[in-house]
Amino acid sequence: MEELTLKSKIFACQKSELSQAERELIDMAIQATENSYAPHSNFHVGAALQLANGKKIVGCNQENAVLPAGICAERSAIFSAGAQYPSEPVVMLAIAARDTSGKLTKDPISPCGICRQVIVETETRFQQPVRILLYGEEKTYIVESINQLMPLAFTDF
Ligand code: THU
Repeated sequence: MEELTLKSKIFACQKSELSQAERELIDMAIQATENSYAPHSNFHVGAALQLANGKKIVGCNQENAVLPAGICAERSAIFSAGAQYPSEPVVMLAIAARDTSGKLTKDPISPCGICRQVIVETETRFQQPVRILLYGEEKTYIVESINQLMPLAFTDF
């Protein structure tokens, strides 16, 4: 039997080290947290994505008393982009969150498993990696492709 060790590569940096386009997308994700509807968790998440044509789309979590009926910020943005620009690859996605005290989280938050699966299919669909920026007040993570967060993903049937 052979043991396989799967490694993920991500980068940690300060927001100031990012490009202007990256900082702008993070600012949009932060702004989008303000539109989050999260009366059940009080955890307000914002996402902003950039398409290959340069358009930017935001999303935020939308909760419901029937919890599974709600949706995360990431999928809200990705599905909105798919509805408006079905042929445009997603090139970059920024995520930010405010915790229950209303403050932006110190550490980056990371997409849930279902959102990871949706980002996997976004990459597969457009044959293009999505650069993911996970914002935290103290550090930001840069993930060059969802493959780094979801090895051995299920992509086809
Ligand atoms: N949530 C997101 O919108 N994105 C994430 O990456 C993690 C979690 C939402 C779902 C739910 O509305 C709330 O945060 C608490 O889990």
